[in-house]
Amino acid sequence: MNRETKIITSEEIARQHSYISRVREAVTGEGEKRYALVRTFGCQQNEADSERLSGMAEAMGYEITDSEELADLILVNTCAIREHAELKALSITGQFKHLKAKKPSLIIGICGCMVSQEHRLNDIKNKYPYVDFLFGTGEIYRFPELLCRAREEKGRFFIVEETLGTLAEGLPVKRSSDFKAWLSIMYGCNNFCTYCVVPYVRGRERSRKREDVLAEARELVSKGYNEITLLGQNVNSYGKDLGYDYDFSDLLSDICAIEGEFIVRFMTSHPKDASKKLVDTIAANPKIARQFHLPLQSGSNAVLKAMNRRYTRESYLELIDYMKAKIPDIALTTDIIVGFPGETEEDFADTLDILSRVRYDNIYSFIYSPRKGTPASEMDCQIPSEIQSERFSRLLQLQHKISNEINQTLVGTTRRVLVEGISKNDPDMYTGRCESGRLVHFKSDIDYTGKIVDMLIERAETFNVFGRVVPADIARVESDET
Ligand code: SAH
Ligand code: SF4
Ligand code: F3S
Repeated sequence: MNRETKIITSEEIARQHSYISRVREAVTGEGEKRYALVRTFGCQQNEADSERLSGMAEAMGYEITDSEELADLILVNTCAIREHAELKALSITGQFKHLKAKKPSLIIGICGCMVSQEHRLNDIKNKYPYVDFLFGTGEIYRFPELLCRAREEKGRFFIVEETLGTLAEGLPVKRSSDFKAWLSIMYGCNNFCTYCVVPYVRGRERSRKREDVLAEARELVSKGYNEITLLGQNVNSYGKDLGYDYDFSDLLSDICAIEGEFIVRFMTSHPKDASKKLVDTIAANPKIARQFHLPLQSGSNAVLKAMNRRYTRESYLELIDYMKAKIPDIALTTDIIVGFPGETEEDFADTLDILSRVRYDNIYSFIYSPRKGTPASEMDCQIPSEIQSERFSRLLQLQHKISNEINQTLVGTTRRVLVEGISKNDPDMYTGRCESGRLVHFKSDIDYTGKIVDMLIERAETFNVFGRVVPADIARVESDET
């Protein structure tokens, strides 16, 4: 048993590439087009993993599809953060049973955070006999080998190694966008917040080498990506394990020094490690979006302590004050958990109080979900669901009011917006995202998808703002194209 983080050697990656060639030869030799479908649940880290899985599948001769009917290979990349996420992944997997009945050659694999837990691995083994193979978050780099085995051998298999995580370079990737890219800079988490499953399913913190991250960033910029989002469970810990003096702020500065027009985002920051140096770095670099996601979880010191968050409401607010002073136009967002075990009405009032003081642009709020094996799931005083729901709706009510008020202040201002494409709700409108992460809707005769434009905000609602591209910028963008 190897309970360490494991750096995957270049020999091992070469071995995986030889599996890629072997599968590709077999797949292309079959004479018919083969299709692979990857269904993804969970956070951006999982989306980034799925892009690697798709990249490997494509390199192995599969065409990536969104159609279940067409698929010859289906991968379900799961999440375990809350019960709801697990139930969704299990229900989708359940629906694939009839596909397999119709097409017995269909190969079904399941991977990701949920199945990296032993009890879920056993569920799949025992209750989902049509799933052919399963692998954990640490085995993603071995997907070519595992797929080769699933194709060539009879019999199901389930592989979750006992490592504390792996770190692999040199795998193919198929990005789902031509202008927005995820860039994982580190993996895993050391923080063990008492409610959270991530450290158990993703292993310990490990940072990619500076030169690997910078090379990928340069490649993205040279390929025309306009937005790069740096990913890690706690990006502020970046570099601590590298053995040289180089931290997240240094990495950000080096990425911003790459020539070209692009926006840099990052997530997630843990408040206990978010430094003033980081705030200063954002202030000094116009390429970094004026947005900071700083998960609070709770505004009560007693609850924060029980969550093992290792900061206080006072230290949190001090950091927010520093940010607002240094970057007055910063948009703040956060994560809140409602109904953590033992949360009293006073504790909850402390959370509402922080919402009113900070005035976040937006919050991501969750009802506490007990996770097997985590300390919080065994705490006394679990909160009844009616109380959780009632607090949850009060939280949202307050936040909606604040979001709407903030949105109204934007009317009449001009914002830098990355245009994402036709609106999902209205085919006559385009949508884009402000630096703050807020969606902006607009009409336009010109398709600016993938471009950064300046937009005059004309109207605002609680969740959306509406605007138009300002003419000065049309000239700039058009001349960029020539
Ligand atoms: N690493 C990030 C968070 C990753 S999980 C961080 O520390 O900020 C994203 C969010 O899910 C968390 O911020 C938390 O608000 C929520 N979350 C995590 N575990 C949860 C649980 N057991 N129940 C409800 N929400 C949870
Ligand atoms: Fe989970 Fe806490 Fe790690 Fe975030 S910092 S992934 S909430 S343990
Ligand atoms: Fe879910 Fe794993 Fe992300 S548990 S939130 S997919 S790290």
